[in-house]
Amino acid sequence: MKVLGIETSCDETGVAVYDTAIGGAAGLRAQALYSQVALHAEYGGVVPELASRDHVRKLLPLIRQTLAEAGLTPADLDGVAYTAGPGLVGALLVGAGVARALAWALEVPAIGVHHMEGHLLAPLMADDPPAPPFVALLVSGGHTQLVAVEGIGRYRLLGETLDDAAGEAFDKTAKLLGLPYPGGPQLAALAERGVPGRFRFARPMTDRPGLEFSFSGLKTQVLLAWQGSDQSDQTRADLARGFEDAVVDTLAIKCARALDAAGCDTLVVAGGVGANARLRARLREMCAARGGRACFPPPALCTDNGAMIAFAGALRLVAGQHDDAAIRAVPRWDMATLAPV
Ligand code: KG4
Ligand code: ZN
Repeated sequence: MKVLGIETSCDETGVAVYDTAIGGAAGLRAQALYSQVALHAEYGGVVPELASRDHVRKLLPLIRQTLAEAGLTPADLDGVAYTAGPGLVGALLVGAGVARALAWALEVPAIGVHHMEGHLLAPLMADDPPAPPFVALLVSGGHTQLVAVEGIGRYRLLGETLDDAAGEAFDKTAKLLGLPYPGGPQLAALAERGVPGRFRFARPMTDRPGLEFSFSGLKTQVLLAWQGSDQSDQTRADLARGFEDAVVDTLAIKCARALDAAGCDTLVVAGGVGANARLRARLREMCAARGGRACFPPPALCTDNGAMIAFAGALRLVAGQHDDAAIRAVPRWDMATLAPV
């Protein structure tokens, strides 16, 4: 089955074609991504109305480009998958409207995909994919969740952040250190030059049992340390390193606990922060020490993209699931309510 995937939930327009007859990593026949980062940079964050308008401009050209790269015409498609939520409603509506209309015109099924399920299943688009049951760590700009995955579509929330998401903490801390938007990757790059251990910040909520996170206090700790420092470039890098180590440590401690709680040794990591090199190394080490393994999508498939939506939608379409003719846009959507496959 050749499935077109469309992602427009936030500030990236992503399009891909996944072919289930090929499967694995090679099943991804083509993909294209347009990032709106430059558009939103001067505002220091995503402006929803500008995001929607830019998706309108970019989506159809990207679909044409992706199909051409895959050597396909629209008539070759067997289904269309789109991000139905969660996300910015105007941005979601662009992808949903185009996807639903295209499927209608082609007389193929369409399916609205949960954005976080897309992230969660992206590591399964590999040649040696992990099989459920496993624990998933979802770490993006909007989410930090530990999920017990009993099967595809069977998700049990083990714990999540009580305030800021890990990516949000990266972005806010980067901003107060004067780094341009989006700060996460910039802060990680700066931390490379930082001296480990010069600044040691709290590992929030690791001193008590439980799988909840709280990252909002960290940025304040960094701010206070910055204000009381010489404010040199080296200090900025040292602070970045101290912050990154605190987040990575905290995530690793809670992931180990979640694996204990779920009684398994396979950890799947997804979402933008999953691109963080130090986090990847640390979680690989932690899982290997337990005799298990940590699975990550390639860094480019950690952040938002169309491939994960094509893949997640394809798994459901192949199982015979699809939506009715309505255009679905669900800004807030609990993953535990998804249908099992
Ligand atoms: O999954 P994603 O692309 O979008 C959401 O659904 O939120 O995640 C974006 C988040 C941003 O907060 C970004 O700063 C963070 O992921 N991020 C990183 C890195 N790359 C992206 N954070 C830390 N280190 C990175 N290398
Ligand atoms: Zn995302």
